Amino acid sequence: QALARAVNLSEIEALGRERLDQNALDYYASGANDGHTVRANREDFARIRLRPRMLVDVSSIDTSTQVLGLPLDFPVGVAPSAFHGLAHPDAELATARAAAGMGSVMTLSTFSNTPIAEVGQAAAGRFWFQLYLLGDRELSREIIARAGACGARALVFTVDAPYLGRREANERHRFALPPHLSAPNVASREALAGVETDTGSQLTNYFQNLVDKSFTWNDLGWLRAQTDLPIVLKGILTAEDAELAVQHGCHIWVSNHGGRQLDTAVSAISALPEIADVVAGRAEIYLDGGISRGTDVIKAVALGARAVFLGRPALWGLAAGGEDGVRRVLELLKDEVRLALALSGKQNLKEVGRDLLKM
Ligand code: FNR
Repeated sequence: QALARAVNLSEIEALGRERLDQNALDYYASGANDGHTVRANREDFARIRLRPRMLVDVSSIDTSTQVLGLPLDFPVGVAPSAFHGLAHPDAELATARAAAGMGSVMTLSTFSNTPIAEVGQAAAGRFWFQLYLLGDRELSREIIARAGACGARALVFTVDAPYLGRREANERHRFALPPHLSAPNVASREALAGVETDTGSQLTNYFQNLVDKSFTWNDLGWLRAQTDLPIVLKGILTAEDAELAVQHGCHIWVSNHGGRQLDTAVSAISALPEIADVVAGRAEIYLDGGISRGTDVIKAVALGARAVFLGRPALWGLAAGGEDGVRRVLELLKDEVRLALALSGKQNLKEVGRDLLKM
């Protein structure tokens, strides 16, 4: 079977792409505008060189870590992405089962095709919930409460998308959610179908009407009061905002949304050092954007990330083979992390620091 034969994430991407129609492919692959930041996410990882140490006993390697107290078998989770139903009929349930089975963690998007409660069951405690704050505070409050009641271990508040970035392929081909899919956490199918689609992407129009564009640091107290869950701010790219996040009692997810928001924004990995410096252990730091190899994972850990998250790679796996496909992506990456540690002369993640890198 093709999935089992795939030797790396890029081969799974090729398998996934073959299974998708133009609408879904545009949506998954696209970055904002000219795609500079999408490419930089990958290129800046490749640019960092490793300084491996030799003659270390690496007969046994421990890849485990913890995120907000949740033990992970290796420092990789699944980033939130909308509409897994575009990739596979099992949608978010497949992703959740794969992540749980691999001792990983899945972040469920506000815009999932599957209700939170069902995903919570499938994830067996291994899930975080990603929040887009809606203009409708009452509905936001309800969604946050539901996420907590369904077993989410953290609230990941996405702060880089008051508006959606302009993904031109979606505009050109007028991205639309197929009629059999909906966004049950936020609205009825009817609400979505009613969106004006004469111009551009249905998603952009829908999103623009729904989310709160006025929310600031001063409003975080409101969010804090809605839940006892740890809050992670997703989309932080500067030391200044990282400092504010810590002052507001939040954890930090370094991300440029996979290059889908502000094009020419800094790559995720290049933003990490200044953020880790200012945070200085006061909060947990995660990162996503451009991860495709085990060496990428250990570079992010070396620069201060506790774990990294996969956006598109998980979607390619889902498209390539549902739960098995996502599991295969996670397995391959776990094996690569183990080998990268061993060949770097590190027995575990605690030994991974900046001395591993030549920047
Ligand atoms: C996303 N991302 C995203 N982020 C978020 O907070 N809520 C969401 O609903 C989505 N939806 C979404 C859809 C698709 C198709 C993609 C590709 C991405 C961003 C995502 O969480 C993550 O930041 C990036 O995907 C990470 O970059 P890589 O791993 O794709 O390079």
